[in-house]
Amino acid sequence: MIGSGGQLAADLTVALHGDEVVGFARPELDLRDADSIARALDPHPWDVVINTAAYNLVDQAEKDPADAFATNAIGSANLARHCGQREIRLIHFSTDFVFGFDSARATPWKETDPPGPVSIYGMSKLAGEYAIQTYCAQHLILRTCGLYGHKGSRGKGGNFVETMLRLAGTGNPVRVVGDQRCTPSFTRDVAQTTSKLLHTSAKGILNLTNRGECSWFEFASTIFELAGKKVDCQRISSAEFQAPARRPPYSVLSDDKLSALVPALPSWQDALARYLNDRTNK
Ligand SMILES: NC(=O)c1ccc[n+]([C@@H]2O[C@H](COP(=O)([O-])OP(=O)(O)OC[C@H]3O[C@@H](n4cnc5c(N)ncnc54)[C@H](OP(=O)(O)O)[C@@H]3O)[C@@H](O)[C@H]2O)c1
Repeated sequence: MIGSGGQLAADLTVALHGDEVVGFARPELDLRDADSIARALDPHPWDVVINTAAYNLVDQAEKDPADAFATNAIGSANLARHCGQREIRLIHFSTDFVFGFDSARATPWKETDPPGPVSIYGMSKLAGEYAIQTYCAQHLILRTCGLYGHKGSRGKGGNFVETMLRLAGTGNPVRVVGDQRCTPSFTRDVAQTTSKLLHTSAKGILNLTNRGECSWFEFASTIFELAGKKVDCQRISSAEFQAPARRPPYSVLSDDKLSALVPALPSWQDALARYLNDRTNK
């Protein structure tokens, strides 16, 4: 598993406990360096390579497109070439941010819908998907969304739930964007379903998120409610928030294809309640 220092990788390591898994962090395997991929992977006869590594700094990517493309596009191409040449199955994580160009969209995106990113990050991840489809016949690209896990994102330095709980502690009003709808997803649920998919012949692109949809404002309000925090949570627009990168106004992913293969994931509300419960019991 590549990107083993990340939050999804932490839960995947637990979920894949019945399989023999070796994790590679960036110092041992840097996707930008094809030689480092060969040095790390060639000594072992892998059945599957799982890539959770990515450049995830969505806003920073607008300033540093070369960095985002170096890992997410060229790095994915390096890995896909390596796996394709050796006929190794490659499971790779992608994102709902490959969508967003169709601002009128209000129904979940299917895997067959044409993508249209609105940010450098989204473009770089989409380029990575194309590279994997080009170079590695045995690929499974899992598009997920709004990840939060107990480890917290390495790239982003935490997760949305923890950020909201920290802001709740300040006693100040919390302003949250209400015009972007998606499905926040618990890394543990994503990891457990990935481990089931590993034992199927699933291939191509597959959406993998918790069920249902909400805006970030609704998600934050539910965090405060479930955590028993009294917070003045204010709904603002993306324009008011002024993030450097544009986000999709609607990036809910359909789980029709997934649920024909394995049981669909629980709802985002169920996942959030379990996350908060585990956090309290730690
Ligand atoms: N987080 C989200 O909300 C979200 C949403 C949709 C999709 N995704 C996708 O889900 C996957 C997992 O995300 P995550 O939240 O678990 O990410 P994460 O916690 O930020 O972990 C990413 C890992 O990738 C490693 N990495 C970065 N550049 C690398 C390179 N060039 N070579 C090798 N390793 C490199 C990082 O290493 P260092 O520790 O050295 O930095 C880090 O350990 C990614 O593909 C991401 O694009 C995430």
